[in-house]
Amino acid sequence: MSFNIDEIRAQFPVLDQQIFGKPLSFLDSAASAQRPVAVLDAIDYYYRNDHANVHRGVHQLSQRATIAYEAGREAVRDFLGAPSTKEIVFTRGTTEAINLVAYAWGVPNLKAGDEILLSGMEHHSNIVPWQFVAAQTGAKIRVIPMDDRGVLDMEAYAELLNERTKLVGVVHVSNALGTINPVKQMTQMAHKVGAVVLIDGAQAVPHCAVDVLDMDCDFYMFSGHKVYAPTGIGALYGKKALLEAMPPWQGGGEMIRSVTFESTVVAPPPTRFEAGTPNIAGGVGLAAALGWIQALGMDAVAAHEQQLLDYGTQLLGNFDRIRLIGTAPEKAGVLSFVIDGIHPHDVGTVLDMEGVAVRTGHHCAQPVMERFGIPATTRASLGVYNNRADLDRLAMGLTRVMELLG
Ligand code: ALA
Repeated sequence: MSFNIDEIRAQFPVLDQQIFGKPLSFLDSAASAQRPVAVLDAIDYYYRNDHANVHRGVHQLSQRATIAYEAGREAVRDFLGAPSTKEIVFTRGTTEAINLVAYAWGVPNLKAGDEILLSGMEHHSNIVPWQFVAAQTGAKIRVIPMDDRGVLDMEAYAELLNERTKLVGVVHVSNALGTINPVKQMTQMAHKVGAVVLIDGAQAVPHCAVDVLDMDCDFYMFSGHKVYAPTGIGALYGKKALLEAMPPWQGGGEMIRSVTFESTVVAPPPTRFEAGTPNIAGGVGLAAALGWIQALGMDAVAAHEQQLLDYGTQLLGNFDRIRLIGTAPEKAGVLSFVIDGIHPHDVGTVLDMEGVAVRTGHHCAQPVMERFGIPATTRASLGVYNNRADLDRLAMGLTRVMELLG
């Protein structure tokens, strides 16, 4: 498939609508992206032809459903460059994957005096589970600071790393700032002190190619719905030896080898971590989405979005009253900003009336807002289907915001 933006847009039926009589410019893909026809059709076909429970039936539908669902696991393995599907656990999304690691790896492995090192730009989903684990184990959370551009302070990181650091948790791309963190280098540094490294890839996988082997991280996770797949499906990559040493975190059907009332023998990974009937259609949709975006080529996707990011940055730079929050040299997908004297929620409401969908608020990253001394930002975020016209409409909308709200 060649990269033709008009052809790509035509594959997203939802984009073809008007909001308050204006064409829709969807600039909220960091919250949740839209789905192409390839994904909608795959889910529709699955429900019309193949649905049954997986891994449980000898009948044809169950066999077909299992094959389709497991194709999703293989698609994730291939997408992340993981060596084996045994290292890919399906989850509801990034949040559940981080919770899985926090409870199944963190609780058994952390103790009082240990340190969990998180970056200052983590999403709440990579803070709160570790706070729960810290309260349970006595481990302490330490934070890697960032500068005024939203770039992590690598000298401070090097100083924070020590023999007590047991886990380093870093977001690959910040949802609030767009910063791309040097996760490979950070992983190498963490491994030198023996720490396990978790990379939250939720905002990275839609925008750039990921290779977990090259990165050498221990855990990597993402959500399907940010990469053009359905909600309620995501994946955790974990190195085989780590997953094999981890106890289950939820019990039920599927995750066992044998059960008596006296005891249970648990299954090996990834099944061990997948109790209950899974999101089968989600796995089918995820396979379709990853196949679709890989056919476009992640390098072409990244180049297209980088051009848009540069164009959007230039457009916002024309407004004296606009301050970009997040100006790292390495950025992906996100234009977060504040307008002097106008609350982001008001900005978002006026933009909506102009057909421009953005997210306003703290973006589940309140420590980032605190770092920049602001309560919230307006965030325009990019998907593969956006074009320059979307950003032109954003700029026109912002002119309207200032006319109406002063
Ligand atoms: N984490 C999502 C966002 O950044 C919901 O909007």
